[in-house]
Amino acid sequence: MNDFVYKDSILYCENVRVDDIAKQVGTPFYLYSKNTLVRHYHAVDEAFSDVDHLICFSVKASSNVALLKVLAQEGSGADVLSAGEIYRALRAGIEPQKIVFAGVGKTETEIEYALNEGVLMFNVESSEELMLINEVAGRMGRVARVAIRVNPEVDPRTHPHMATGLKDTKFGIPLSRAIAEYEIAHRLPGLQPVGVHQHIGSQILEVEPFEDSIEKLLRLVQSLRELGMEIHYLDIGGGFGIKYKDEKSLMPDEYAEILKPLLEKSGSTVILELGRMIAGNAGILVTRVLYNKQGQEKIFVVVDAAMNDLMRPALYGAYHHIAPLTYDRNRPEEVVDVVGPICENTDFLARDRAMPKVNTGEFLAVFSAGAYGFVMASNYNSRPRVPEILVSDKKAYVIRRRETYEDLIRGEAIPEDIES
Ligand code: LLP
Repeated sequence: MNDFVYKDSILYCENVRVDDIAKQVGTPFYLYSKNTLVRHYHAVDEAFSDVDHLICFSVKASSNVALLKVLAQEGSGADVLSAGEIYRALRAGIEPQKIVFAGVGKTETEIEYALNEGVLMFNVESSEELMLINEVAGRMGRVARVAIRVNPEVDPRTHPHMATGLKDTKFGIPLSRAIAEYEIAHRLPGLQPVGVHQHIGSQILEVEPFEDSIEKLLRLVQSLRELGMEIHYLDIGGGFGIKYKDEKSLMPDEYAEILKPLLEKSGSTVILELGRMIAGNAGILVTRVLYNKQGQEKIFVVVDAAMNDLMRPALYGAYHHIAPLTYDRNRPEEVVDVVGPICENTDFLARDRAMPKVNTGEFLAVFSAGAYGFVMASNYNSRPRVPEILVSDKKAYVIRRRETYEDLIRGEAIPEDIES
């Protein structure tokens, strides 16, 4: 089931015509379906219901406070990578004891902030970070709950930019050094090791890499328990992939069915840090055709959205399905590049794409843009960031307004000397 569907040839988001929203708010804009977001959350929650678990939605995937609020109301926690993300999660009503804090470069200020707010645990990525957290916690008279992010060295067979559990990535601590680090943490007064963490990559379309890495984590948990550490959390990270094109993506219960027997063995609360699986197909980007341009060798469809609005195609060559808001099976197809107005060759949303011939002025939907879409947007070329709209049944809400030119220079200052 999908909440972005054509009814009588017109694209709807739940019960609202997408073109009506486009006429009201202008283009480009991101559009999310509340129903889809909630349904995806529950699909995961139910799939893992036999296992003691906590879903910590990965805030980096989609971080609008309204979307986080929707998830908080369903019981979600948060996986965060910065103090800014902690702030967002808290503002959305996510309880601090459901927040896990990851990242290779947490600053002292961020560690203090997280300790003050009482997050569930720090997913620690280096020996020096362990020392710093211990020091900050000691100074604050606190004990920091920690997990070490281990690098299980499995190949998730995904895009190289998204494989984080391999030997040569900056992430985590090698499994071979993990026990020694845990022993240090165990002895330090400001730290309490309570969990084990991994995140092996993103957009992973197979279960095997998870099986392999979780087996390794379980052996680690056992050794740590033998050493007298009470390990309450097995954080298996995120990474479950979704369908963008014709990939064979797995349903949450297909992951769960295979992983459950392993997870049950852990004797701990399993944390799932999913982002894309919950938000990816809950959002689209809507754009308008500015020009149809016949190049020397190619046809270009120039649209008003660009790589600063959706960076995934430029950054990873990622595929996002693109289609007009009006479906017409009799339209001729042509092979085009869908490009934005930015002065970069990489500014494209689709390359050599066979799609229905589109008219100048027409609206297009760029699908599967709910995760790593708006959050990766920038103001490059001084383009105001686009609004985010949330649909719930028959209603559409602006959950982030379009930026103005004034927003673009907010915070900038002209030195007096220059002005005089
Ligand atoms: N946990 C940690 C520690 C992470 O670093 C990530 C994502 C997740 C969880 C969530 O992964 P997910 O379930 O969403 O796959 N910008 C890229 C994706 C980068 C993912 C970074 N880490 C993209 O556009 O595809």
